[in-house]
Amino acid sequence: MEDLTGQQLGQYQLQERIGRGGMSAVYRAIRTEDQAEVAVKVMDTSPETRDMFFKRFEQEAKIVSAMRHPNILPLLDYGHDQQHPFMVTPLINGGTLADILRRTTLSPDETGGWLYQIASALDHAHQQGVVHRDLKPTNILLDDKGHAYLTDFGIAKILNLTGGGLTVTGNVLGTPTYMAPEQWRGEDATPLTDIYGLGVLVYLMLSGEPPFHADSPHSLMYKHLNEPPPPIRIHAADVSEGVEQVINKALAKNNNDRYPTAGEFSQDFQRALRGMETIAHRHPPRKQSRISTDTPSNLKAVAENGVLTPIYAPAPNTPYPYQASRSYVPILPPPRPKHGSQIRSCLWVTLIIAALGSFGFYTSQDPDRFFPQALAPEVAAPLPTSTPTVPSTSQVRINFPENGADTFTVGVDVSIGLSIDAGVTKLEIRRFGYVVNTIENPSDVITYRPYQAGRHVIEIVPYQGTEPGESAILEIIVR
Ligand SMILES: Nc1ncnc2c1ncn2[C@@H]1O[C@H](COP(=O)(O)OP(=O)(O)OP(=O)(O)O)[C@@H](O)[C@H]1O
Ligand SMILES: [Mg+2]
Repeated sequence: MEDLTGQQLGQYQLQERIGRGGMSAVYRAIRTEDQAEVAVKVMDTSPETRDMFFKRFEQEAKIVSAMRHPNILPLLDYGHDQQHPFMVTPLINGGTLADILRRTTLSPDETGGWLYQIASALDHAHQQGVVHRDLKPTNILLDDKGHAYLTDFGIAKILNLTGGGLTVTGNVLGTPTYMAPEQWRGEDATPLTDIYGLGVLVYLMLSGEPPFHADSPHSLMYKHLNEPPPPIRIHAADVSEGVEQVINKALAKNNNDRYPTAGEFSQDFQRALRGMETIAHRHPPRKQSRISTDTPSNLKAVAENGVLTPIYAPAPNTPYPYQASRSYVPILPPPRPKHGSQIRSCLWVTLIIAALGSFGFYTSQDPDRFFPQALAPEVAAPLPTSTPTVPSTSQVRINFPENGADTFTVGVDVSIGLSIDAGVTKLEIRRFGYVVNTIENPSDVITYRPYQAGRHVIEIVPYQGTEPGESAILEIIVR
């Protein structure tokens, strides 16, 4: 990507290139309006994918700019000229977590402080329906007061987003070192995918090593899918057994064996640091890597009955009170016909291997590096219609409310008007990919009751018998 130093992008005068990513460059820039210094991240696009990219970019930027949290780097502005989409954020001068980890590993206490801040940011994003999908040290910016900012929700997508002909039902690849098993299988990312990424990050902070290394994408994928993480205490002598158990729980192969929220991961880490009994000790992840249909009720029961003392760790330089959210309680979908999901997984695995194999494994040189720019727009593009994700064509359309047009109230039913194809016997209402309600023999007006404020992206999946059809997506804002 050419160096744009000296150029004007919108009202931003690009002064100096201060960083580069796989498909982006970051500039220190001056905003002409008030001469303020800001950071402008410019994305590279190819002429073929530009229109699609702009559309996708606008949607994501809109979502990200709505998030407000002390540990999420705010998006001040975004836009594009003829060729380049760009995002404007505050300029953060303390480098990234990657800069620290290049020099040294971190003590368990220091790690707990960073974990606390990042977990708080993630819980907030998850409550807004945003999954980060690309947690890694270069995406954690630091100021000189020890404050961490999570950035680059650039490939984060509101789950199952549909609109204006742009359909995203599959996954977008993240950075291989940090990718959860379900991302390798091409399944949708959920907040639990970020818990895994956070687990990798914590492992790296303490030991200086990611849990899995490999010299080919095949073996890296194999390890993420099948191998337990090597005990962290092999690499880090100052890590206690309790902390090791906590990390292993975050890195569980089955996503419902992980902590349900990032805040609970952080709290359990603090318990382990203080030598207290942990949830991870009581409920370690199961050994097999099969997908279970159990709800993680063990966690809920332990947490809600107050059997374990909650820990709200005061992280250094974190001036706001933070409590981990318990509002996100995954209700797992009923078991899918085994055959279909196996075929789908196989197809995805083959696709991913083919994609990775085709451009080589240069990421092993630098595990933080995103895939090369040539690939990124391709893997981010909508799935081909031939992918076996939509086994039948039954449909449901939403007549009202209009996406994002009205604001609703916590605890008050939202009426949703539908046109439902003949033959549809059941609707599943999902949020974050999890089933929150099932309606047998649905009528053309159904209700959805939101239990928390924020952005709700609701997926309505029609079924003919056991065959799922094409889902419709409704986005509402709840206050
Ligand atoms: N707001 C900012 N203030 C100061 N420096 C920044 C800011 N945003 C990014 N940077 C710097 O720019 C570098 C490049 O960022 P970018 O997001 O383009 O790529 P990356 O995260 O390093 O890698 P990848 O493209 O693989 O995700 C970062 O590593 C960081 O050092
Ligand atoms: Mg980045």
